Amino acid sequence: MKFIRKLTRSVKDVGLGATLRKILNRLVFELKPSFQAHRIEKIRGRRFDRKYGIDTQGVIDVSEMNIPRDAASHSCYYGPTPMTLFADIVLNLSINDKEFVFLDYGSGKGRTLLLASNYRFQKIIGIELAPRINETACKNIDIYCKQVGRDSSEIVSICANATDFPLPTENLVIYFYNPFDEVIMRQVLSNIEKSFVEAPRMMYIVYVNPIHRKLVEDSGSFELLKRCQNILVEYFIFRIRPSLLE
Ligand SMILES: C[S@@+](CC[C@H](N)C(=O)[O-])C[C@H]1O[C@@H](n2cnc3c(N)ncnc32)[C@H](O)[C@@H]1O
Repeated sequence: MKFIRKLTRSVKDVGLGATLRKILNRLVFELKPSFQAHRIEKIRGRRFDRKYGIDTQGVIDVSEMNIPRDAASHSCYYGPTPMTLFADIVLNLSINDKEFVFLDYGSGKGRTLLLASNYRFQKIIGIELAPRINETACKNIDIYCKQVGRDSSEIVSICANATDFPLPTENLVIYFYNPFDEVIMRQVLSNIEKSFVEAPRMMYIVYVNPIHRKLVEDSGSFELLKRCQNILVEYFIFRIRPSLLE
């Protein structure tokens, strides 16, 4: 009924020809593999949440995050890492996960932290700016770990600004899912480089939807290891330049 109403209104407003063209365009769009992939991804995300009684799916606009206006102006919206992407990333990293701490800058509701806990990282740390989103992440960690019978003490979600977080001194996999703008990215990269100088160690950066990748490329400390194109999103893997570790 709703469709018939919309159709009638459209024919009245723009004519039959334009209405048919609109329907055709929509059909072509819906048949596109990337559109289908997004739809399947949403279903997977919802299923993951339902299975464990958690809440990670969905998008939250910056205006709804309840964070100070100046911080909000540098922040990106909340949206979770696609379910299928994480396994793809770990595969492409080809590291011995046991030797690394996983660090998610802008960890949101903690989906990547939960997915990372399926691997053998020494510790899993998330840093999230928005207190309410971080609260959800902490609940999610608690519930998920109970459900899968995992010790939750090695998974933490810290409510803080990424720029204020002192990096752990272990080998690191540093994860960014397009969390913030160039200003914050620059500061965070500078912190990472300073931390490396103080304690030289292996570091990887995984940058998903890498809008400000030029900053990493130009940093001089990291080299591009792989450029990966998943059906849903592009991501880059950088590694600390081996010459800096000699
Ligand atoms: C696109 S979401 C990614 C969530 C999560 N990493 C994932 O992949 O499922 C980006 C997150 O970064 C957070 N964020 C933005 N600016 C931040 C900052 N300065 N410090 C810490 N977190 C920040 C946002 O609140 C948002 O939850």
